[in-house]
Amino acid sequence: MDGSMASASERLRAGGLVAFATETVYGLGADATNGRAVATIFAVKRRPSFNPLIMHVPSAEIAALHGVMSPLARRLADAFWPGPLTIVMQRRSNSAVDDLATAGLATIALRVPGHPMALELLRAVDRPVAAPSANRSGRVSPTTAAHVRQEFEGMDVMVLEGGATVVGLESTVIDATGPVPLLLRPGGVTREAVEAVLGIAVERPSLDPDEIGAPRPNSPGQLASHYAPRARLRLEATEALDGEALLAFGPLAPAHTGPSYNLSPSGDLIEAATRLFAGLRWLDASGVATIAVMPIPTHDLGEAITDRLQRAAAPRRVPSSPV
Ligand code: TXA
Ligand code: MG
Repeated sequence: MDGSMASASERLRAGGLVAFATETVYGLGADATNGRAVATIFAVKRRPSFNPLIMHVPSAEIAALHGVMSPLARRLADAFWPGPLTIVMQRRSNSAVDDLATAGLATIALRVPGHPMALELLRAVDRPVAAPSANRSGRVSPTTAAHVRQEFEGMDVMVLEGGATVVGLESTVIDATGPVPLLLRPGGVTREAVEAVLGIAVERPSLDPDEIGAPRPNSPGQLASHYAPRARLRLEATEALDGEALLAFGPLAPAHTGPSYNLSPSGDLIEAATRLFAGLRWLDASGVATIAVMPIPTHDLGEAITDRLQRAAAPRRVPSSPV
């Protein structure tokens, strides 16, 4: 069902679920201080495990009530909030955020989103809102309200229409609890931008595809097969074969008679990020078994785009029992 701003904030305060637009992707929000409401997120998404979620708040001042702002966190917040950056901090013991939302960790992930409707909603709710991307587990993140309605058809989720999202990729997640910033998830804020602000290098856990999805103590919840369309992805393709779809990038895209989607004909990484999930969805809907993906540069937003494509291409986890 579609809702208004007033009905959406009322519903969140009453423990219901509301999908809302942020500048990155649509989030499936619940009152983070209400354990039952947070549990409903996992049920509706059909997540196989309880990963720690991101808490959305309307300001850095409110974030500081839930997490400890290290000097590093403070500089990141000053530079990038509101915006597509999530900062992992030590969790304050008196924070009312439910343990399920943080998966029982001593740390908490906080973000002030850069979308006027999201900020208005968060101010009205007046509680931290836990919100993973508004898609079923393992599926592509939604960048329009129509995508969200498809994901949760017939389920008890209110959708607050907020237009197409402008960034198109999830937020960058940085652990700022230690002396050195750790890049846990590349996203809408580039490593280059973070390093320019901090003046120090950001460390990144290995991007080796064999290791993606291996349990890492500091980034729980990074499943290998996240962001996966139904079709298989063939990366580093120089052309698409008969029967394949083509996910292209740049002006030198090969000609293809099957379904073809160019992330950015001009080779602009910002445009490519915006169109990535919508493009994967569109190609997937054509019913092909394989999507051939052209190489994407790995600098700036290309780092996050490549990360999502590698996850989408990773072998699927087949649950051994119903979840
Ligand atoms: O752009 C976004 O960030 C979107 C929109 C809706 O805001 N939200 C989103 O949330 O992507 P979610 O829950 O799907 O992403 C949570 C990410 C995971 O990679 C998780 O491992 C990490 O944040 N995370 C959360 N809490 C953490 C913690 N305490 N320590 C380390 N990583 C954490
Ligand atoms: Mg997600």
